[in-house]
Amino acid sequence: MRAAETAASPVDVTAWRCDPYTEALARERGPLFLRRPDGSTLPLDVERWCGGIDAADTAVLERCEGGVLDVGCGPGRLVAALADRGRRALGVDLNPLAVAHANASGGRALCQSAFDPVPEEGGWHTALLVDGNIGIGGSPERLLARVREVVRSGGLLIVEAAAEDVCERMTARLTDGRGGVGAPFPWARLGLPALLRLARRSGWSRADTWEVRERRFAALRADPGGAAGGAAPGAATGAATPQAERTPKEPRAYRTAPTTAEAANRNAQTSSQRPANGCPGSPLLDR
Ligand SMILES: C[S@@+](CC[C@H](N)C(=O)[O-])C[C@H]1O[C@@H](n2cnc3c(N)ncnc32)[C@H](O)[C@@H]1O
Repeated sequence: MRAAETAASPVDVTAWRCDPYTEALARERGPLFLRRPDGSTLPLDVERWCGGIDAADTAVLERCEGGVLDVGCGPGRLVAALADRGRRALGVDLNPLAVAHANASGGRALCQSAFDPVPEEGGWHTALLVDGNIGIGGSPERLLARVREVVRSGGLLIVEAAAEDVCERMTARLTDGRGGVGAPFPWARLGLPALLRLARRSGWSRADTWEVRERRFAALRADPGGAAGGAAPGAATGAATPQAERTPKEPRAYRTAPTTAEAANRNAQTSSQRPANGCPGSPLLDR
């Protein structure tokens, strides 16, 4: 098979690791959109992700405690800003270019899934899920339980909610709006009420909420003793769920980069995932 055919093969195509997200990161600007199955789109703020920190970011950074894990760090403006302030911080992200950018800008980041074991698993004082990253994996309950495993008991999680009062799960694609479309992946969007409701069931207590320039945030405190609702240890990493992004046979040691075979495997799982719709108890189902 010729190289060009290999590059175009679905084996190498994985959501968030490939174009058009990578192309947008390379030029440090959009257009980039999240496209829902019905064709409607939401603009993504690549310029802000690739820029410096703003007032809303500063409000997040000021609340961070101890060592900080930025989940889905993108090009790493937050880990870089924390490093600048002499803070211990690590980002994790699936996209190699984003991770390279984060490391080049003075931060520290690893190219891996949030659902793979991370360094100092269970020891982080603060975790971040900003810029819509509560959507990672398409199941906020599973992500919240996963992050509960990563932080220490009593640790902090700062989450950015959607500005609107939504609770939405979807199989999304990234598009540049000009014909470039990425692989499908499960994603979610939660407004503050839905986020707080799901957090309560996932081992998190509300510590604070705030808004800066129409961006809404919640600080959540990890309940002692792990996730509420009886989530078994390891459930969030996939040991007990067929929808895991981490393959069940992967070792519990963390790595710096996934292999091509793992990427292919993860892609196959991602493409076939059909997350359960709706947020139980929410008046705003499946918008
Ligand atoms: C909405 S963007 C947020 C960008 C980022 N916070 C920033 O400052 O640029 C989502 C990010 O999450 C990453 N991502 C998606 N799924 C992930 C996963 N399972 N584990 C780690 N990162 C993931 C994507 O590669 C992307 O960089």
